[in-house]
Amino acid sequence: MTDLLTEIEGLEKQFGEEIEKLHHSNEILHLKATYLGKSGHLSSILKKMGGVSAEDRPTIGQKANILKGKIEEECQRLLDSLKRGALSEKTEKEKLDITLPVPELVGYLHPISQVRQEVEEIFVGLGFQVHEGQEIESDYYNFEALNIPANHPARDMQDTFYIDVGATLRGCPAKEGGHTGPPLLLRTHTSPVQIHVMERQKAPIAMIAPGTVYRRDSDASHTPMFHQVEGLLVDEGVRFSDLKGVLELFVHEFFGKKTIVRFRPSYFPFTEPSAEVDISCLFCGGTGNNCSVCKRSGWLEVMGCGMVSPAVFKKVGYDSRRYSGFAFGMGIERMAMLKFGVNDIRLFFENDMRFLKQF
Ligand code: PHE
Repeated sequence: MTDLLTEIEGLEKQFGEEIEKLHHSNEILHLKATYLGKSGHLSSILKKMGGVSAEDRPTIGQKANILKGKIEEECQRLLDSLKRGALSEKTEKEKLDITLPVPELVGYLHPISQVRQEVEEIFVGLGFQVHEGQEIESDYYNFEALNIPANHPARDMQDTFYIDVGATLRGCPAKEGGHTGPPLLLRTHTSPVQIHVMERQKAPIAMIAPGTVYRRDSDASHTPMFHQVEGLLVDEGVRFSDLKGVLELFVHEFFGKKTIVRFRPSYFPFTEPSAEVDISCLFCGGTGNNCSVCKRSGWLEVMGCGMVSPAVFKKVGYDSRRYSGFAFGMGIERMAMLKFGVNDIRLFFENDMRFLKQF
């Protein structure tokens, strides 16, 4: 009997050593079969029970059963832990936390960006190039080159954000002593891009310049930061009728073919003659009946435009006897408000998802 007990103990020790080296589930299953299978190690020991006295059989049987249970338990424990390991290895590889909830809302473009893109697409389709310009401008580009005289109200501190360049550059070793150049400001319109492009390029030019502009103004229809799209076309023989044709085509694309376009005489220092573009009111169909949006006039003002002033051509060195051109400027927020029926411009920048989700 002691022989068989020693054999069982030896088997236990051997199993302990063998299982330690295994890392794959099929190896573990195979090991389990070599110990517990019909012709496995344990069975071959038990086959020798015939030679054991009836007295000793229960002790040996019990020992063998304990070892059988141990082998089963040990194999299962290892299989389970391998499974868990494989799972965490997989998630680590994919850098994915499978416990996170699926996001409900996928990001998309802000309504102002959507409108900006739509405007861009229409003009790009007509052959206009897109220029970005810069948000910090000098007094020269924002006003002077555009024939806006020094005493023009737009230059007033009330309307324009000026930049204290001295304060900005102090502490910058190369510019010690502060900035002595011309005053800088946040552009109040996208018109300075006209000047930059004409300085860089010769005619013919067909460009639009969408971008952010700034004015010290804040109420239901003004925010200190807003967006405009500038347009400029310069070539030989450009006429006011070309301006009317292009803008009418744009309005029909953007607001729909039924919209009526009206050009109303106006004034801008950098265009001559100048006009405001009005469209028939989208809310009352142009009747004006009890309409608060068009204030019962039946018309909505959508942009400013005109023929490029010879004074501007002179600033950029273009020969105004040879070239003529037109320019226009529209507010993106205004276009978006009219298109979507929004009555307060501030809603666009409050980042309230209940508002933004509607576009
Ligand atoms: N820059 C003008 C504004 O901001 C708009 C404009 C642009 C008018 C081009 C005429 C031509 O009001």
